[in-house]
Amino acid sequence: MNPLAVELNADLEKANPAVLSMLSEVGKNLFFPKGILAQSAEAKQKAHRFNATIGIATEKGVPMHLKSVMGVLCGMEPGECLTYAPSFGLPALRSAWKSALFVKNPSLAGKETSLPVVTQAITHGLCVMGEMFVDPGDVVILPDQLWGNYNLILGLRRGARVSQYSLFDDKGGFNLAAFEAKVREEAAKNKKIIVLLNFPQNPTGYTVTEPEARAITEILTRVAEAGTLVVAVSDDAYFGLFHDESCIKESLFALLNGASERLLAVKLDGATKEDFVWGLRVGFLTYGARFAGGAAAAAKAFEALERKTAGAVRGTISNASHLSQTVMLKAMKSPEYAAEKAEKNAIMKARAVEVKRVLADPVYKDAWTVYPFNSGYFMCLKLSTVPAEELRLHLLDKYGVGVIALGKSDIRVAFSCLEKDDVKELFDTLLAAVRDLEARA
Ligand SMILES: Cc1ncc(COP(=O)(O)O)c(C=O)c1O
Repeated sequence: MNPLAVELNADLEKANPAVLSMLSEVGKNLFFPKGILAQSAEAKQKAHRFNATIGIATEKGVPMHLKSVMGVLCGMEPGECLTYAPSFGLPALRSAWKSALFVKNPSLAGKETSLPVVTQAITHGLCVMGEMFVDPGDVVILPDQLWGNYNLILGLRRGARVSQYSLFDDKGGFNLAAFEAKVREEAAKNKKIIVLLNFPQNPTGYTVTEPEARAITEILTRVAEAGTLVVAVSDDAYFGLFHDESCIKESLFALLNGASERLLAVKLDGATKEDFVWGLRVGFLTYGARFAGGAAAAAKAFEALERKTAGAVRGTISNASHLSQTVMLKAMKSPEYAAEKAEKNAIMKARAVEVKRVLADPVYKDAWTVYPFNSGYFMCLKLSTVPAEELRLHLLDKYGVGVIALGKSDIRVAFSCLEKDDVKELFDTLLAAVRDLEARA
């Protein structure tokens, strides 16, 4: 093992040996290399005559650049967008995102977190989390309705065994009984469980209520206290898009952080959907844990996790886009930023409210049932009479309408890209298409 990894592992062991045990084989071996990067950093401070260390080109003291490139990057200097960002992410952006986390999640008050490490958006954050914690054969607990990419990232690429519970109970809420039974079943069989929680949810658009969130926290805390290592990952991709009063308005990460010595809370989030910048690819990976030995030992343990995470970033994409990080940092500092976000969130909420209003019409009653939704981008229908894939194809062919078919009977509708005034027409078209297929049968 590289001596730098040994050092980081020792810092984790000192503050909380359980967290060290949660790491995968790769995670245990990960470190942030000092080589060229450290020598460059040293040279940046001391090489006042010539700095011939870094792998970029310069001219008259500024990064070499083409006018045709900088011409489209109005208001930016070459040094704040063309050069490499650190593998950890821009320090100012990491601090700004961390401060924002504490504002958005009041339950974090008085708790410690790492500094967020910047990833190439949340998909890459999931890959990095997988490298850090998932060995082949490890169990990842997920609901039966889920974002399919989890299977690819954690199942296929990391060799995890995905174990699923049914997301909803028959009263239209989160199925706490099924969740608890699954967590207990896997805890009885495994030294470590990885639980991936995603609210607002893809595909259903469901966010748990506050009592459900507290119950989930309690269930995970109890199994951790009974001896199981719990890696509790919150995928908060759609954070902030809460469309009614039933949703908890903060991340489960805030409740789970510090809940038990044997529970590591991992937060994956990003500007992608929170800031309507899907293609910029800026995400964050943040840790919350209970560390012993005082503030200095905790700081070293968080830094050890950050250095391993940045090592995984270095070994995959090297670093996330400097340009995108600078755009986000400047946007977050804009005095209009909060109001602009609130305005867009209100538009999304109005669409969700309209979807609920339209679907309350009994005219749709025998065609489908509506899965619970209160947040995010999506909602799902369970078709009563026709197969989902047949309906999807018929909608495309006859009506020019695109929806997603999931499994045998579920349809996902992204109201995020429907104007409020088009909502009724969309569902009426869906109903007409259902009737066409029923008549054919
Ligand atoms: C639940 C969930 N997590 C993560 C992502 C990916 O986010 P990003 O574009 O930041 O990689 C998505 C996007 O569809 C998603 O639905």
